[in-house]
Amino acid sequence: MPRARLAQFLPMVFVVAIATAQQSQPAQQSPEPSFASLSTPPVGLPPMPKPAGYEPTQAMFDLGQRLFHDVNLSSDRTVSCATCHPAANGFASPEPLPKGIAGRRAKRHAPALWNRGYSTLQRWDGSSASLEAFVLEPIADENEMGLPLPEAISRLRNDATYKDQFAAAFASEADAVPLQRALATFVRGITAGNAPYDRFQRGAVDALTPAQRSGQWIFESKGGCWRCHTPPLFTDEAFHNTGIGVREGKAEAGRASVTADPADQGRWKTPTLRGVRLSAPYMHDGSLATLEDVVAFYVRGGNANPTLDPHMQPLQLTAADQRNLVAFLLSL
Ligand code: HEC
Ligand code: HEC
Repeated sequence: MPRARLAQFLPMVFVVAIATAQQSQPAQQSPEPSFASLSTPPVGLPPMPKPAGYEPTQAMFDLGQRLFHDVNLSSDRTVSCATCHPAANGFASPEPLPKGIAGRRAKRHAPALWNRGYSTLQRWDGSSASLEAFVLEPIADENEMGLPLPEAISRLRNDATYKDQFAAAFASEADAVPLQRALATFVRGITAGNAPYDRFQRGAVDALTPAQRSGQWIFESKGGCWRCHTPPLFTDEAFHNTGIGVREGKAEAGRASVTADPADQGRWKTPTLRGVRLSAPYMHDGSLATLEDVVAFYVRGGNANPTLDPHMQPLQLTAADQRNLVAFLLSL
């Protein structure tokens, strides 16, 4: 382009950029869990895999939703699933290590529950093989709800309103398998998609601000985030050592506590970044308070330890790059 024409053209680019930046984004609502999302996932998400051995129904979802919020599933009737996974905080605990019964603390941060139905392995170390297998574990866990399973089942059987709901959903009385299926069906309905990111991918160019678009480019290029946080779910469903939890150069067991493979030392499951704007603090120990802290952690290349992932290298990101990367994370 000749100089004179470029000079004419540049102010126009500038005006368009300002106009786009000033367009305010519609306020993002926190997505509501819904049974419909199992068959019709939100824009941008793939079809939801079917659970093994049963067909989820609306009645199971409704029962699961009630159970999820019921403190009677804890020994002293003070703690429900929602206590540690409140919707307002992206279904993650606002405290680094959430409080269970009698002021005890869970050993890890309670992760966000978005899109768990797309994953088979559950927990930060992947030690639970499915959602169904997992959901009874917090009930019996002495640091969480502290209620032995037989006691939980007898409480449910002795409640006339639950009796009707189990009969409607499973044509049976309360028992371990119906309880697993109801809770897992509700958790499957906790989905996050149809975000500004998805609308932008679908061609709505104004859905992302210029800062967010620049952040997306960093995410996919010199930030290298996409390698592990792979779209559209923003997780590769694998385990990596980023150095979180390293003390004096030594990593915790992480995935190695399941596989006994020394190469897995300090590896933890890559969490989804969907809905991440809501779910502070971050990481398996809740040690990073804000998304700015997370980005600063990656810029310095994580925490050194013998099995650090080779992709964890210091990043050359300017202060503006880092702000834009955070802005992009807010669009997911
Ligand atoms: C006292 C706090 C607490 C309570 C109560 C609690 N959770 Fe959790 N939840 C956690 C913690 C901590 C983890 C991470 C556990 C780990 O990685 O070992 C977790 C993990 C999960 C996961 C796996 C998420 C993932 O990304 O792997 C699911 C699903 C889940 N909880 C659902 C539930 C359900 C359903 C209930 C109620 C039956 C419940 N939780 C009750 C603290 C809690
Ligand atoms: C080598 C793989 C890998 C790369 C590259 C990577 N991450 Fe992560 N990310 C992880 C793992 C694993 C965790 C969980 C670590 C833990 O808790 O111990 C994580 C956690 C996070 C979290 C916390 C989410 C939550 O719910 O707690 C955010 C936010 C995040 N990463 C953003 C990024 C960004 C931004 C980049 C690029 C600058 C990036 N990640 C690059 C693997 C990776």
